[in-house]
Order: sequence, then structure tokens, then C-alpha cells
Amino acid sequence: VDLFPTELWARLSARLFRRATPGNLGYGDPAGYPLLREAIAAYLGESRGIRCDPGQVLIVAGSQQGFDIACRVLLDPGDSVWVEEPGYLGTRGALLAAGARIVPVPVDGEGLDVAAGINQQSMARMASVTPAHQYPLGSVMSLPRRLALLEWAGRSGAWIVEDDYDSEFRYSGRPLMTLRGLDQEGRVVYLGTFSKVLLPSLRLGYLVVPPGLVDTFLAARALSDDSPPFLSQAVTAEFMAEGHFARHIRRMRAAYADRRAAMLEGARRDLRGIMELPPDETGLQLVGWLAGGLDELNACREAAESGIDMRPLSAYRLLPSDRPGVLLGYAAFSPRDIRDALRRLGEALRGALRRS
Ligand SMILES: Cc1ncc(COP(=O)(O)O)c(C=O)c1O
Repeated sequence: VDLFPTELWARLSARLFRRATPGNLGYGDPAGYPLLREAIAAYLGESRGIRCDPGQVLIVAGSQQGFDIACRVLLDPGDSVWVEEPGYLGTRGALLAAGARIVPVPVDGEGLDVAAGINQQSMARMASVTPAHQYPLGSVMSLPRRLALLEWAGRSGAWIVEDDYDSEFRYSGRPLMTLRGLDQEGRVVYLGTFSKVLLPSLRLGYLVVPPGLVDTFLAARALSDDSPPFLSQAVTAEFMAEGHFARHIRRMRAAYADRRAAMLEGARRDLRGIMELPPDETGLQLVGWLAGGLDELNACREAAESGIDMRPLSAYRLLPSDRPGVLLGYAAFSPRDIRDALRRLGEALRGALRRS
């Protein structure tokens, strides 16, 4: 958020609010502001290989509301749903609220293990996945796994929710085709968000819904909060149309690449033998695998005493694991702060190891 173009955003907001029509200031379209839906459809076509009509794009209050609506529309209480293990807590919460039965399916270096899911519960109604950058482990779902997941969904009539929360931030190589881009049978509901690429506080995200489901999703959305707010949608649409969005992404990608490099260099220097950070190529956080016998909760407690907020992977797990690890976010800190923090973290964890 320290690099967000606040002045520009304020200027666009003032201009758009001044020019707002009475229609803009009344209740809005439950599907969202038309110019924003068009801008998103064009952006997804260019950057994510998703061909969709703006009529299939529904604006929501972040991925969280999008996922909540998808659960209400697509699930009945008692339906089984595959979730990634470990996985995102927001997903699990919405599923529990919808009365779903959660089926934790293991994740490895190729993403969700589709064969394991089929073994556990082949008749699940839905699978929720983060294929571009698994949260929290960071793996990218391989093409064979993507095809296997789509094949299973087509065969069993299940839905796939593709949560594409941070795919703008890829530092090398080319992204794989999204599930939505590969989907021939209309089984994928795609979930995007402006939380990572602009600001979480905007509370703006979007769903790309298969054509036959648009009206049902709209009805559910209108019953929950009527329609998204005009001003933030209009400013975002203008920000995209005037080319600021593409520029902002390029600038942030470069800044995050520097921050990521500072993490990896600092970890090589200060965490050798106590924590290993695989250098995944996407996203805004890295997993640190603990070595030398440190346990997750102890490590996080020691880190907190040195002013460092580190999350144990057990917080994202439903099943026990014998591989201790933590999640380290780097997006919000300058390279210098990252280097200082890693030095302190190395000292704290080495001290803990000596004492134990
Ligand atoms: C896996 C995952 N999905 C989605 C989001 C974004 O949620 P929202 O769009 O509701 O802010 C996050 C944010 O941390 C996330 O980690």
C-alpha cells in the first residue's frame, strides 16, 4: 500500500463523483458497473487467456463475497467439497457457513492431487483450487493435473471454483492456461480480486460465471447486498481504461521482485541450516521449511518476540503434517526492512535451537 498512487486515485474519484449522473447515484446494477465489467473482460482476455462476454462478469465485494455467493448457488447443505490441504481459511469458512462437508485433498509440487480427491470422495459437488499459486504452499498446478481436474468435473457434474488471487505477480517464465481458459464444458467459476493488485480495502473482486448460471448468481447477489458501490467501481474502470492499471502492475511487479530477491538473499545468509525457502516464481509470500528440529509454534513465538509476524502452516491445515513450515509475506516491506528482519529472525531462531 505504500506504493499505491493515492493522488491519482483521489483525482479520478473527485472527477467521477462530480460527473456522476442521478442514475449512478441511485441503486446500481447487481451485476456491477458496465464499464468495469467490460474492462475486466478485456483484461482477462489479454492477460489470462479467458474469453468471456462482459455479461458473464459479476462484480463482488472481493473474492470472499464471490466465493460465498458461489457456495449458496451451487451447493446444498451436506454436499461434499474438495479443498486444498493445506488451504485458504476464507474458503473453508464460507463452505462451513453453507453447510458443506469439507474434504481435505493433499497438495504437492503439482498442486491439488486429483487422484487422491477421486479416491477420497469421487462424488464431490465442487472443488475449490488456487492453481496459479497454491495458497499457502506456492505450487503451480501442472497442466496434466488441470486437465485431470476438468475431466473429473465434466464426468461427475461437479463445479470448480478457480481462485486466481495473485497471478499478476509472476517473476519469470510464462503462466499456464487458467482452468477457466481450458474449460470446454462450462464447469469453472473463475474468481478474481483487486485486493492484491490494487488495495484490499477497495473490496472489489469479480466472478466469471458460466453463461447458464448468470441469472441465478445475480439473484443471489441482489438478495445479499443489492449491488456494488458506484464510486470504487467507476474509479477502477477509469484507472484501467486510461492505462494506469497496466503501469501499476508493471511497477508493483518490479518492486515485489526486489522484495522477493531480498528475502531469498537474506534467507541464504541468515537462515542457513534453520529454514529453507524454495524460490517459487509467483505471488507475495514464501514458505519457509524449518530444519534442525525447530517446531512451528515455537519458531513463530520466537519470531514474534523479535517483532516478526510469521504464520505456522498448521494454521492452514486440517490434517496433521510431519513437515514443519511457516509462511513469510514480503510484499509490504522494503528490501532494507526485509534484510534487517531476517537478521533478527536468524538470531532468534538460532538462540531457540541452542536452548532446546
Ligand atoms: C487464497 C486467497 N484468495 C483470495 C484472497 C483475497 O480475498 P479478497 O478478494 O476477499 O480480499 C486472498 C487474500 O489473502 C487469498 O490468500
